[in-house]
Amino acid sequence: MKIAPTIVVTGATGNIGRSLVGRLLAEGAAVRALTRDPARAGLPDGVETLRADLTDEASLEPLLAGADALFLNLAAGGGQAAAAVTGAAVRAGIRRIVLNSSSSVTDTPADEENHIARMHAGVERAVRDSGLEWTFVRGANYATNTLAWAPSIRESGVVREAHPDAGGVPVHEGDLADVAAVALLDRTGAHLSRAYVVTGPEQKTMAEQVAEIGQAIGRPTRVERISEEAAAEAMARPGFPKEAALELVRLFGRSVGAPLFPVSDAVEKVTGHPARTFAQWAREHAADFS
Ligand SMILES: NC(=O)c1ccc[n+]([C@@H]2O[C@H](COP(=O)([O-])OP(=O)(O)OC[C@H]3O[C@@H](n4cnc5c(N)ncnc54)[C@H](OP(=O)(O)O)[C@@H]3O)[C@@H](O)[C@H]2O)c1
Repeated sequence: MKIAPTIVVTGATGNIGRSLVGRLLAEGAAVRALTRDPARAGLPDGVETLRADLTDEASLEPLLAGADALFLNLAAGGGQAAAAVTGAAVRAGIRRIVLNSSSSVTDTPADEENHIARMHAGVERAVRDSGLEWTFVRGANYATNTLAWAPSIRESGVVREAHPDAGGVPVHEGDLADVAAVALLDRTGAHLSRAYVVTGPEQKTMAEQVAEIGQAIGRPTRVERISEEAAAEAMARPGFPKEAALELVRLFGRSVGAPLFPVSDAVEKVTGHPARTFAQWAREHAADFS
C-alpha cells in the first residue's frame, strides 16, 4: 500500500492555497494547512489546519515536522519569513519545496533591478541553497490582481489605470495550484530543479480584461486613464511601498504594444489540461464585481 504524502501548504486560505488544498485532497494527499486563524479558515474537513504566523521564526520547525513536501508562498509573511521557513524545513526533514515564485525572475542581472524580482529571486536562492528538492512556479500576472478593480466596478463600472493598453497574460489561480500540486506529488523526478513560467493562455490588455469583466457581469465597464503617480498611490500597501508600486506601474507602461511575457505552455505540459482563459475566470468571479 502506498502511504499518502503529507504536504504543508502556506498561504492556505489565499487564492492559490485554497485551490491547492482542494486539489491535493482530491489526489489523496494528507494536507497540513497553515493559517494565522484556523477558526476563520473555512478549509474542508480532512485538512489538518494549524495556527501559524510565518514571521514568528521560532515557531516554525514543529509545524513542518513529519511532512514530505512544502508549498511556500511569499504572500505568507514575505521574503524574510520565507527564508526562515526554508531553514526550518531543512531542520524538520522536509524533502521538497515547491516555491510560488514570479515570472519577474529571469535569472539575469535584471533580477536585481526591481523590488518584486529581487524578493522572489532572493527566496529562490535560499531554496536552491537549502539542498532540498525544488520546483519554482513562476507565475505571470495573476487574474486575481483584477479584484483590486472590484470596488470601482461595483460602484461606477469605471476602472482607473495609468496604462490601459498594458499587456499581460493573466493566469488563473486554479492553474497555478494545479501546476504546484503536480510538482508536490510527483514521484518520477520530472519536475525537480525546474522553474516553470506559468501564464494564462492568451495576451490581454488591461482594457480587454475590464471589458471581459463587464461581459461576465452583464454591465458596461470602461477604463479611465490616470497618472503613474496616482496609480502607484492606489496600489501601495503595507509591505509594498509606493516606490515599488511605481516601478510596477512603469513596467506596465513598457508592456504597451510589447508584452513582457509570451504565452507559455507550462500549464498544459505539466498538468495535461489547457490553461483557463480570463473570460472563464471573470465568469467564476462575477459575484465579486456585482
Ligand atoms: N499578484 C501577482 O500577479 C503575482 C505574480 C507572481 C507571483 N506572485 C506571488 O504570489 C503571492 C500571492 O499569492 P496568493 O494570491 O495566493 O496570496 P493571497 O491570496 O494574498 O494569500 C496569502 C495568504 O497568506 C496568509 N498569510 C499572510 N500573512 C501571513 C503570515 N504572517 N503568516 C502566515 N500566513 C500568512 C494569509 O492567510 P491567513 O490570513 O489565513 O493567515 C493569506 O490567505 C504574492 O505574494 C507573490 O509572491 C503574485
